[in-house]
Amino acid sequence: MLGNFTYCNPTKLYFGKGALDGLNAELPKYGKNVLLVYGGGSIKKNGIYDKVVAALKANGKEIFEDAGVMPNPTVEKLYEGVERARRAKADLILAVGGGSVCDYAKAVSVSVNCEEDPWEKYFVRFEEPSCETIPVGCVLTMVGTGSEMNGGSVITNHKAKMKVGHVFADEKIFPRFSVLDPEFTYTLPKYQMVSGFYDIMSHIMEQYFSGTDDNTSDYIMEGLMRSLVHSSRIAVKEPENYEARSNVMWTATWALNTLVAKGKDTDWEVHMLGQAVGAITNATHGMTLAAVSLPYYRHIMPYGLAKFKRFAVDVWDISPAGKTDEQIAEEGLSAMESWMKELGLVMNITELGADESMLGDLVNATLVMRGGYKVLTKEEILQIFKESL
Ligand code: NZQ
Ligand code: ZN
Repeated sequence: MLGNFTYCNPTKLYFGKGALDGLNAELPKYGKNVLLVYGGGSIKKNGIYDKVVAALKANGKEIFEDAGVMPNPTVEKLYEGVERARRAKADLILAVGGGSVCDYAKAVSVSVNCEEDPWEKYFVRFEEPSCETIPVGCVLTMVGTGSEMNGGSVITNHKAKMKVGHVFADEKIFPRFSVLDPEFTYTLPKYQMVSGFYDIMSHIMEQYFSGTDDNTSDYIMEGLMRSLVHSSRIAVKEPENYEARSNVMWTATWALNTLVAKGKDTDWEVHMLGQAVGAITNATHGMTLAAVSLPYYRHIMPYGLAKFKRFAVDVWDISPAGKTDEQIAEEGLSAMESWMKELGLVMNITELGADESMLGDLVNATLVMRGGYKVLTKEEILQIFKESL
């Protein structure tokens, strides 16, 4: 049964080969000053930077640069970006990069005119902006987070040992437009590419493994997962297979553009466990999720057995004949484990830099969610991290 909801996704997408031309339609809508935000320099090596700058100049923009947004952007970088945006009197923030750059652009957008400490306001108290915000546009170069079409922004505070995501409710925080050219993702190193693939899977599973009702969103998610498994297997062998890469890119956007969460409960505990690992090791986001997922799902499986059985049969084509529900469900998770190994994902947190001495910090940094099949106790969280080592 679908619960009540309001749905609005205001992000305009330009998808496919040559999608960057969409900038010519979008840029005239904003003022002259553009804060061009990007990461550690991949866009300079692969030529995307030159193309974006050419489009900005052709549209008469004054460009102010904010480079060096790191993976898992930090609160210190956010403060720096706020200063840059203020000095630039930015009319538009154009993010060119992956989820980190897009998330950071949104965080700067809500902070430029904020009179309080943005970390405290948005990432500790989870308040919505009460000040004027700056429009954000994205040119996506890494697939996975869905940040190109949602209101999410994740900021890391190493001093506080916290990595916190705020999903802004107000649709004016969503990117006004996003450019999605699958060919822009070809230069991703394999580690980043497959990490993004698992991030997509995790986003879908977080929303799928919740609730017991019959819900259209679950059927949509099964289709998305089947497409992802199929295309990721091709992409990992043939990184320049346009069909596979474009399908994965589109799946990533739908996995977390808020549609499939509507009218149902969602979990998000794997992301809380993964974000704790990220806060303490600064590891790559998708890999932190891969490393904790199987211990978590095997732990909660008895509490949501019917859904795990459905996952096995409808996503992984496990034959149910002559098997108990537990056997079917476990075979589904085993099939997922094989796929994860086939992609080359990191399957434990030790490889990401965690060790036993960090278990206490990891447990403390993990927020407990209430929408999944089991609300975890601190002891259970500790057990899951131990099994993830
Ligand atoms: O910095 P550069 O040099 O650009 O290199 C980046 C970075 O090192 C590189 N890269 C990106 N595109 C490339 C490329 N290298 C070569 N060719 C390209 N085309 O990839 C590295 C990782 O980039 P990053 O943006 O950090 O990856 P991702 O897209 O996975 O973003 C991760 C961040 O997003 C947050 C994560 O927590 C993490 O902080 N998330 C945001 C969400 C949201 N907004 O809804 C939800 C997610 O669950 C996630 O939490
Ligand atoms: Zn994620």
